[in-house]
Amino acid sequence: MTTAQGGIKIENLRKVYGHGDTAVEALKNVNMYVAPGEVVGLVGPSGSGKSTLLKCLGAIIEPSSGKMTLGDELIYDNGWTLPDLRALRRDRIGFVFQAPYLIPFLDVTDNVALLPMLAGVSNAQARQRALELLGALDVAHRAKAEPSQLSGGEQQRVSIARALANRPPVILADEPTAPLDSERALGVMRILNAMAKQANTAIIVVTHDEKIIPTFKRIYHIRDGETHEEMGEGRTLDL
Ligand SMILES: Nc1ncnc2c1ncn2[C@@H]1O[C@H](COP(=O)(O)OP(=O)(O)O)[C@@H](O)[C@H]1O
Ligand SMILES: [Mg+2]
Repeated sequence: MTTAQGGIKIENLRKVYGHGDTAVEALKNVNMYVAPGEVVGLVGPSGSGKSTLLKCLGAIIEPSSGKMTLGDELIYDNGWTLPDLRALRRDRIGFVFQAPYLIPFLDVTDNVALLPMLAGVSNAQARQRALELLGALDVAHRAKAEPSQLSGGEQQRVSIARALANRPPVILADEPTAPLDSERALGVMRILNAMAKQANTAIIVVTHDEKIIPTFKRIYHIRDGETHEEMGEGRTLDL
């Protein structure tokens, strides 16, 4: 496996669901670039293709045509170029969803340590890494708790720690701040921006949350399956 430098490039991506009369062209022509260390917003109305795009990038569904590059590796070129998509998802992409989807019967530490363990990291090392991340996300004091004992904001921070645990060069977040109040939503964006800088991660955040849209330096608007790039306000999140 190549060591990706981070960065995401999408060229002329198209995705059609179904065939014939019932075909839906969810993505017509998507072009996007996210540099290593950059956090980019993806904004668009319901049904515009946001989730479809993230699922294609995350190798959860297969595009119809186009190209996708992660780091310096072309992963899709009118067909997958990699034999092992599970390894791609597990090792190189961190997912953050609107709902945290933590595993209820594992404590916070094990929720975060699970993916590195599955990737072959020793239990002790995976736990150590989990604790460091929980510390960085200000939830280390909840390390032994079960997910149900946490507040919504704490659960979301744990799910971000989990997304970062395999040190993926790419993070894909679908509405990560939707359930959070303004202060916590901005806190999540602060963390994502800090992680992007520290680990050179390329991050795409799908959102229509007015609270966080001013934080992006660059935004892609998606409408009817086509992307349009715009400068954002890039409001500073530094304390
Ligand atoms: N599995 C599917 N089968 C058929 N059509 C789908 C499927 N998933 C999404 N679509 C359609 O593709 C379009 C884009 O959907 P989606 O990517 O979920 O948009 P968004 O996340 O922006 O709301 C919509 O018209 C939706 O109905
Ligand atoms: Mg969606």
